[in-house]
Amino acid sequence: MTNLAPPSIIREDEKEFIELKAIIKRKIGFNCEDYKQPHLKRRLAVRLRATHSTSYKDYVQVLSKNEDEERQLKETLTVNVTELFRNPETYESVRANVLPELIKYKGNNKVIKVWSAGCSNGEEPYSIAILLNEYLGISTKRYNISILGTDIDDDSLGKAENAVFQSRQLEKLGKERIDRFFVKKENNYQVIDDLKKVVKVKRHDLISGPKLSGFDIIFCRNVTIYFEQKLQEILYMNFYNALNEGGYFVMGKTETLVGPASQLFKRFDLKERIYAKKEKI
Ligand SMILES: C[S@@+](CC[C@H](N)C(=O)[O-])C[C@H]1O[C@@H](n2cnc3c(N)ncnc32)[C@H](O)[C@@H]1O
Repeated sequence: MTNLAPPSIIREDEKEFIELKAIIKRKIGFNCEDYKQPHLKRRLAVRLRATHSTSYKDYVQVLSKNEDEERQLKETLTVNVTELFRNPETYESVRANVLPELIKYKGNNKVIKVWSAGCSNGEEPYSIAILLNEYLGISTKRYNISILGTDIDDDSLGKAENAVFQSRQLEKLGKERIDRFFVKKENNYQVIDDLKKVVKVKRHDLISGPKLSGFDIIFCRNVTIYFEQKLQEILYMNFYNALNEGGYFVMGKTETLVGPASQLFKRFDLKERIYAKKEKI
């Protein structure tokens, strides 16, 4: 089992912790207060250990002297570990249950807009692009598909834009999908242009960014788990409002829909944490 407590060699002082959080907000624009504090402390402990700091105060010194530390800290705080087709059973439910319903509901409307909120290096938006391409087959051309991937981490967004993945990120894909949707580039795999062109990525902070809207499906998986419940409730309402009528919200397998949105969404596939936007009566 993982040890959830920060390592004991770190001297924890609440005042220093508050000061460090304020500095992080100022330097890298990361709003620590909105994240679960034990989670935040565990992530900070990673950087404190790596820089041999024994207190938050020590670490403030490192942060002010070493420019690369800002980047490393941001990378550690944002937790962007993922892979293509993470939790394949969720994608399978989207393919088997969500897409047939959505396509039927949209009828002659051939515009499909998907949002991958907290898209990391692009693994999720490109998985969605593959899924839609496979599901629609030759009809794909008749649709105007756009998949928006958003994140606060610029490094991740740069990788998402490049759409080049290492083989370990493709482990859930199988040879057929890899051969069809990727081109081998030295030891890595580049997403083919046909898929690449439907995915757009942009920087967007779910907490402080503008409200987006007009989506048929929103994926926000393994992002809100790090946020305080009050904020989760606000974000779930934002997602509800960002969906078109007949739209779907896909959460992470370990996340729970809380707050007013849980009364508004219809449970569509509880096991896969998929919710449907109820039609207005
Ligand atoms: C663990 S990854 C999840 C990736 C993918 N959705 C998945 O389920 O595998 C979490 C992502 O959320 C992003 N993130 C964290 N806070 C965010 C915020 N306030 N706004 C937008 N993205 C955020 C991180 O940068 C990171 O890339």
